[in-house]
Amino acid sequence: MIKDKDSITGSFHFVYIVTLIVGTIIQFSDESEFAVDMSNMNLTHVPGDLPPKTKILDMSQNNISELHLSDMSYLSGLKILRISHNRIWWLDFSIFKFNQDLEYLDLSYNQLRNMSCHLIRSLKHLDLSFNDFHVLPMCKEFGNLTQLQFLGLSATKLRQLDLLPIAHLHLSYILLDLQGYYAKESEKRSLQILDTKTLHLVFHPNQLFSVQANMLVNNLGCLQLTNIKLNNDNCQVLIQFLSELTRGPTLLNFTLQHVKTTWKCLVRIFNFLWPKPVQYLNIYNLTIVESIDKEYIHYPKTALKALKIEHVKNEVFLFSQTALYTIFSEMNIMMLTISDTPFIHMLCPPSSNTFKFLNFTQNVFTDSVFQSCSHLVRLETLILRKNKLKDLYKVGLMTKHMTSLEILDVSVNSLEYDKYDGNCTWVGSIVLLNLSSNILTDSVFRCLPPKVKVLDLHNNRIRSIPKPIMKLEDLQELNVASNSLAHFPDCGTFNRLSVLIIDSNSISNPSADFLQSCHNIRSISAGNNPFQCTCELREFVQSLGQVASKVVEGWPDSYKCDYPENYKGTLLKDFHVSQLSCNTTLLLVTIGVAVLVFTVTVTALCIYFDLPWYLRMVFQWTQTRRRARNTPLEELQRTIQFHAFISYSGHDSAWVKNELVPCLEKEELRICLHERNFIPGKSIVENIINCIEKSYKSIFVLSPNFVQSEWCHYELYFAHHNLFHEGSNNLILILLEPIPQNCIPSKYHKLRALMTQRTYLEWPKEKSKHGLFWANIRAAFNMKLTLIAENNAEAS
Ligand SMILES: *[C@@H]1O[C@H](CO)[C@@H](O)[C@H](O)[C@H]1NC(C)=O
Repeated sequence: MIKDKDSITGSFHFVYIVTLIVGTIIQFSDESEFAVDMSNMNLTHVPGDLPPKTKILDMSQNNISELHLSDMSYLSGLKILRISHNRIWWLDFSIFKFNQDLEYLDLSYNQLRNMSCHLIRSLKHLDLSFNDFHVLPMCKEFGNLTQLQFLGLSATKLRQLDLLPIAHLHLSYILLDLQGYYAKESEKRSLQILDTKTLHLVFHPNQLFSVQANMLVNNLGCLQLTNIKLNNDNCQVLIQFLSELTRGPTLLNFTLQHVKTTWKCLVRIFNFLWPKPVQYLNIYNLTIVESIDKEYIHYPKTALKALKIEHVKNEVFLFSQTALYTIFSEMNIMMLTISDTPFIHMLCPPSSNTFKFLNFTQNVFTDSVFQSCSHLVRLETLILRKNKLKDLYKVGLMTKHMTSLEILDVSVNSLEYDKYDGNCTWVGSIVLLNLSSNILTDSVFRCLPPKVKVLDLHNNRIRSIPKPIMKLEDLQELNVASNSLAHFPDCGTFNRLSVLIIDSNSISNPSADFLQSCHNIRSISAGNNPFQCTCELREFVQSLGQVASKVVEGWPDSYKCDYPENYKGTLLKDFHVSQLSCNTTLLLVTIGVAVLVFTVTVTALCIYFDLPWYLRMVFQWTQTRRRARNTPLEELQRTIQFHAFISYSGHDSAWVKNELVPCLEKEELRICLHERNFIPGKSIVENIINCIEKSYKSIFVLSPNFVQSEWCHYELYFAHHNLFHEGSNNLILILLEPIPQNCIPSKYHKLRALMTQRTYLEWPKEKSKHGLFWANIRAAFNMKLTLIAENNAEAS
């Protein structure tokens, strides 16, 4: 295994280097199969540095004149050698004695006149045609080439026993080049080839046909003659030549290439071939010369099934068209092809005849062809592609009597259907109609054969598919590619439709309905349309995506956005827009729901969790912290004995003693309580004022009781002292119980003012809120102050 791998890598390197040096090397899948292409490189001799592993060597089209043993001996694996179109004039076959695998040797188009005969037995293909041999280069060693299938030879003379050495071989193909053939007028030779499936004879391209030889061939199935030049005088020479060759019952195919003949001679050849066993007759590149006159022919019973004539040149300018076309229209064969000719017409056969297949591609036929022709009753296929037909109505009319017609191809003409409003006439049997590459518009749907199954309308000028008056119930395949359609067709009209081809139209916003309504669709091809990648397309892409792999041809590569600019070129497969951005109602509903949810949440928070209370408390807490930070120190230089003075009503004393005082004293704050710290003998107001002035902060516990019983002591004092001006942070108001506005007597101006400012702390009923409440109280006394205040107290 490892060794194999090494040799693979080795050969890759080798390929690379050799490519640089000598030209192109093709490596085959089997790593040892080397092909070296050195054709057309002006070589005068075989290069000595070819890769020794070379199996296929192409040195055709060079100037090599000699081959030597040393050129080939090291290429022991050589299988195929092409060295045609060089100048080799002498060859000793023993130079190949070390190429024991050589199977294919092409030496055609050289200047060989002579050769030695040490042939390699492995040869299967040996081509010595188009050389300068005088007589057939045949030696008895050819008889040993038991593998031989193809043999190409050339000669200027044919002698009776020339081919004797290969008489016992069963060949597939003999190519005999007789371009240089010449013979004295009187000489007539017999030549035995005996056994080949195909015989291809090539004559001189410009000389009148003059080969007089009797060739006897066994098992000949296919005869091919190239370069036949005939006039009325030597026509008989060809017929003579063919009489022996066409005798065998096996000859089914006969092909003539590059034939230049008079019309009269061509008709004689038909006459001669008709009773022969030939079934398929092909004539390619036919030139008609001299004149075309009326020829009388009565076609005998024939084995001929098909005549094909392609590429005709007519060098006769004045002649009777009827004389020409009668010969073809009266033929009693099944298949006739006449294509690429200057013929302008074809006649209706005189009586019901045998044509089943007529192919008249690429002529210049007009609408008048086969009009009112009632004798083509067996015709099944009629091809009139690439002619000069103009009127669809007349094409329909033409088919009227062709009661077996199933396939009609009138593509690549100039067909229109606009002039008539009346009903079109079509034979009902048509199942395939090819109307592609014409100039038909929407109106074509008013003029179609009713039972058509396959309809090709691609490359016309259809803008929309109207609902036809008559439904095409049987239509299975519709090709409307390369038109100007903006929409898919309606499947209600074609309910059997299974194949739709609608590429390269103007469909920008296809609707998804189509795919849903066409139940029988097996294949859709809709690529190369200018799709608008917007919301409307979304549904279509989705429905397409579901069936894409099975049904949609060319998906995804041919389906691209054309608009908007920023999506241009994007594959539909990759085009995504969200459901939300496409659906306005959905968008509005979503926004509405979001707003509603938000509102409900906020309301719920307010109702169940007293959000406003929290907000107020937090706001006050932050305010207090900020103020505490900004308080200048000298303000504290005043003689302060207490951190806080607490004033409250006797009714609230339980709360003060159990909740407020313990909490403050836990923070090591010194508190002035009027019943604890009051100096006897002084009036209440004096005591209060004394307390307030010795305290850093004053805390008032507000409740309806407090307002009623205690506040009277303060109202006057506050009115005269600026100590508690608005916004002062020395005053802390705690609202223990709500005080309705109307409970505050109107004389308490100061209290009313303070209450409206809402700078008090509310005592919350819920236990969970107490933490925040105390945090607010604590924030009013910061630690820094505590230290200074204590120091002051110690010092005093
Ligand atoms: C119709 O004719 C065009 C051109 O002549 C050919 O390419 C096409 O395949 C034909 N369509 C059918 C359905 O045979």
